[in-house]
Amino acid sequence: MVNPVLKWAGGKRQLLDELSARFPEDYNHFHEPFFGGGALFFDLEPENGTINDTNIRLINFYEQVRDHPEELIDRLESYRDPEDDPDSENDFAETNHKGKEIKNYYYQQRARFNKRPYGESFDPIEEAALLLYLNRTCYNGLYRQNSSGGFNVPIGRYANPDWVQEQRIRKASDVLKNTEIFNRDFKYILEYAEPGDLVYFDPPYEPMSSTAYFTDYSAEGFGQEDQERLLEVAQELDEQGVYVILSNSGVMYDMYDNVGFSVEIEGATRAINSDAENRDKVDEIIATNVPEDERRGRIQKGLADFS
Ligand SMILES: C[S@@+](CC[C@H](N)C(=O)[O-])C[C@H]1O[C@@H](n2cnc3c(N)ncnc32)[C@H](O)[C@@H]1O
Repeated sequence: MVNPVLKWAGGKRQLLDELSARFPEDYNHFHEPFFGGGALFFDLEPENGTINDTNIRLINFYEQVRDHPEELIDRLESYRDPEDDPDSENDFAETNHKGKEIKNYYYQQRARFNKRPYGESFDPIEEAALLLYLNRTCYNGLYRQNSSGGFNVPIGRYANPDWVQEQRIRKASDVLKNTEIFNRDFKYILEYAEPGDLVYFDPPYEPMSSTAYFTDYSAEGFGQEDQERLLEVAQELDEQGVYVILSNSGVMYDMYDNVGFSVEIEGATRAINSDAENRDKVDEIIATNVPEDERRGRIQKGLADFS
């Protein structure tokens, strides 16, 4: 079990046991088309397969972790405390791309991280190191961009921010060694998944009540049309004999139930799971086509978990 390197919105650490319990006993390759922080992938440590995300800088980050972990660590070690003065020997020591005054080291690194969206040449290792640095020093570990793609999260308040994360980077690099990394829409999976493979989908969503209008639902620009495309892709994989596990908002319960997936409710309201009248309290679902008699079942806790 390896820890994720980045903090990422929608991270699935709290659902790991529930997801693993639905895994088939045997499968070939593992694929994760909405990778984000990759909590399940790193927990699982799959031997091979594919990962994907539409976020171009996130994907560059994992390529650098896989291929150049030591350069990445060296670069991270050269960075200073976010509250320090800007580094006068580097770009953006005084003003950012928009001519706004740079207050401290954090905002200088944020401006340097934003070279690519503002059309300047960038160094892939530097950009990856800056992504982790900002992830560990920005407000709440958020990732948010403006309409030009500029990362715009303000500085966070941490007593002792730890942005180097060398052990996590080295372990993540090992786990990623035989993994292909893509920066495409999730439907790339139709070209790569083979019968007997396992695909875990974790699209952007907010846990929410099913009384909210479905058409209003859109998280990070992932709206109703995308949800419908995703359902079609999941069905196509199912027809090809690929195992599919998906986490999603409670509002999607009927969509997956109607096409024959086994759907279960997770989260605070799971006690009322099969009571249709109470579906408006639904938080999150896990949908899967893995037959119950092929599932691993709940993972036994290791001795270490009891100490
Ligand atoms: C809920 S997050 C995944 C969280 C992840 N499971 C974790 O543990 O951190 C969803 C991810 O999907 C990505 N995404 C959004 N639209 C996408 C699309 N059309 N195809 C692939 N990835 C997409 C986002 O960039 C985001 O990183």
